[in-house]
Amino acid sequence: MLTAVKGMNDLLPPESAKWAHVERRARDLFERHGYREIRTPMVERTALFVRSVGEVTDIVEKQMYTFDDRDETSITLRPEATASVVRAYLEHSVHKKEPVTRWYYMGPMFRRERMQRGRYRQFNQIGVEALGVAEPTIDAEQVAMLHGLFTDLGVERVDALVNNLGGPADRPAYRAALVAYFEPYRAELCEDCQRRLDKNPLRILDCKVPRDKEIAAGAPATIDYLGEASRMHFDGFQAALAAFGVPFRVEPRLVRGFDYYTGTLYELQSSAGDLGAQNTLCGGGRYDGLVEELGGPPTPAVGFAMGVERIILTLPGDADSFDPRTDVFLAALGDAARLHCLKLAQALRRAGWRADFDHRGGSMKAQLKRADRVRARAAVIVGDDELAARTVVLKDMSAGAQSVVPEAELAAALHKLLA
Ligand code: HAM
Repeated sequence: MLTAVKGMNDLLPPESAKWAHVERRARDLFERHGYREIRTPMVERTALFVRSVGEVTDIVEKQMYTFDDRDETSITLRPEATASVVRAYLEHSVHKKEPVTRWYYMGPMFRRERMQRGRYRQFNQIGVEALGVAEPTIDAEQVAMLHGLFTDLGVERVDALVNNLGGPADRPAYRAALVAYFEPYRAELCEDCQRRLDKNPLRILDCKVPRDKEIAAGAPATIDYLGEASRMHFDGFQAALAAFGVPFRVEPRLVRGFDYYTGTLYELQSSAGDLGAQNTLCGGGRYDGLVEELGGPPTPAVGFAMGVERIILTLPGDADSFDPRTDVFLAALGDAARLHCLKLAQALRRAGWRADFDHRGGSMKAQLKRADRVRARAAVIVGDDELAARTVVLKDMSAGAQSVVPEAELAAALHKLLA
C-alpha cells in the first residue's frame, strides 16, 4: 500500500474543523487590522531563497526541497513565504502604487527537517508582512495582534520574547565581537560552525549541537552593540508594547535563522498543550534591507509567520467541539417521500441550515441511527401519511420528543427547536 511521504500529513475531519476555526479567526482579525490576502506560488526559483534567507543558513544549506525543472532551471518548494511576498511586491510594482502595503497569507511550506512533534516537512504557516512603515509602533501592533489572536483562540501560557538584532550600521562591530568571542573555541565548534565562524558568525547562535549551544550561551548579546538609531527603535517598540498592554520579556539571546532580519525580532511561545520542545508558535521581525536586496528601492518591512500545526496542538477542546453539527437530518419512507425530502432539504439549505439526507434510504431505524451518528440536532421524518397531509414529523434528537408540524411552519418550528 502507498503511504504519504514522511513528514507530510493528511488532515481529516473532525481535526480539519479545528484548522478552519484558526484560519477563520486569523483572517478576520488580520482584515480588521487592514491586512489583505496574497497568494503566491508554492514553487520559486532557488536563487530567491538563497539571496533572501541566506546562503549560510540551515534552511538553504540543509532543508530545501530543490530540484531541476525539465528546462534545468533550479526550483525550490518554498520553505517560507517572506521571500515570495517581497518578490511579488516588486514584480507587480506594488511599491509604486501604494506607500504602505499590508498583506497576509496562509498555506503550506516545505523544509526537510528532522521530524518530531510540532516539526514536520510540510507544515502550514499563517503570516503577515507590512511593507513601507519604519516606525516601531507597527512592530508592536503585530505582536499585540498575535497576542489578541491567541487570547481569542484560548491558547494559554503565551510568552512574548523580543530582541533587537541591530541594523546594518551596528552589524560590523557585533560581528567582530562574535568572531573575537568564538575564535578561541574554534576547535570545539562543530564543523558547520567552524565554517560559519568565517562566513556568517551570527548563524552560530542558532546551532542546535549541544556543545555549540553551551559555548554560544556566553556570546556577546546584540543589544549591547546597538547604535543610537537601533536603540531608539527598540525603546519605541517596547513603549508601544506597553501601551498595547502586551506582557513581554526582552530576550537578548533571541536570534532567528534568516539573514534578512534587521532590528526588531520577536517570538511567541507557549508552554500549553502538547507542544513539548517545539514551543515557538510564531516568529517574526524586521527585514528593512530585503526589498532593496531583491532589486527594489529601500523599503522598511516587518512581519511574522505562525505554525498552524503548533497552534492546533495548544488549542483547548477536542476536535469534535469545532466540527459543525448537522442541524437537521431528513429521513423518508417511500419513493415519493424521498423525492419530496430532497426538495425540502434543498429549501432548508437555502435558508441557511445544515441539512443532511441519506440517499441510500433504508428503514426508518437505520436512517435515524445515521442521524445520531452525524450528531444531527433535529430530524424531519416524512412518510406517505405526512406527504398526503403536507406535514412532517419533527424530532428533537437530544430530548427524543417529536411532534407533527405543517410543512409551511417547519422553518419556524426549527428555529424554535434549534435556537
Ligand atoms: P520561522 O520562525 O522559520 O519564520 O517560522 C515561523 C513559524 O512556523 C515557527 O514559529 C513555527 O511555528 C512554524 N514552523 C517553522 N518550521 C516548522 C516545521 N518544520 N514544522 C512545523 N512548524 C514549523 C519564518 O518562516 C519567517 N518567514 C517569518 C517572518 C515573516 N519573518 C518576517 N516575516
